Amino acid sequence: MIDLHCHILPGVDDGPTSLYESLKLARFCVADGITVVTATPHCHSLIHLLRTDILPHVAAYNRELGAAGIPLTVLPGSEIQVYDSAVYRREFEEDVFCHLGNRRTHTLLEFSWDVDKFPSDSAGLIEWIRSRDMVPIVAHPERHHFFRERPMLLQRLVDAGAWIQITVDSLIGNFGPEAKAFGEQFLRTHHEAILASDAHNSKRCSGLSAGYSWVREHLGSDRSRDLLERAERVRMSLMSDQVSMPSLQAKAG
Ligand SMILES: [Fe+2]
Repeated sequence: MIDLHCHILPGVDDGPTSLYESLKLARFCVADGITVVTATPHCHSLIHLLRTDILPHVAAYNRELGAAGIPLTVLPGSEIQVYDSAVYRREFEEDVFCHLGNRRTHTLLEFSWDVDKFPSDSAGLIEWIRSRDMVPIVAHPERHHFFRERPMLLQRLVDAGAWIQITVDSLIGNFGPEAKAFGEQFLRTHHEAILASDAHNSKRCSGLSAGYSWVREHLGSDRSRDLLERAERVRMSLMSDQVSMPSLQAKAG
């Protein structure tokens, strides 16, 4: 499996504070059946990590994984918060963002928890990103109170071409009954979805297998397979010309 939203890098944002904690999280991911993770440190107004910040951390971290004998591949990425569409567009065009896999295929977007910072032209921004042949993925809408209270806000983004990312911890109830209920509802109403962990450390991570099991139980095996296959297609597009994982680890070793 691939986890497309994970704060696995040590000491760069509010993820693991030490390499030890980060490697513990990596071992948990492997035990869960995850083989590839896109590291998605924050890129918001307070922690504004860009490609030049992220790539060296990812390279160093893959070397640590190889040295520790942990069979996990970490690809670069970031969770980019949209708090001002004009600022987003400018930085996008300056090509400073680290999109998923450091590719121009999929990008992980987050909106502020404060509805007053939800740009009124967000749907237009989604169309603008799609017109650049990229798929914007909206992180954990089920956890945002304004998407729960006004589902049309999310519907407009989806209609404009956004995918949604539902967090496993929401589905299994770790963010409360509302996030759980809306996680299920959004998975029912929005086809183009993926599951991810949004893990921040070994305590805030339930893996992915628990999420796919939950979906299989509540929404059926076809939906679970659909989510798994969509994530796999993303993985293939992010790794289309990369050498295999064992080769990467041999180099690291
Ligand atoms: Fe996140």
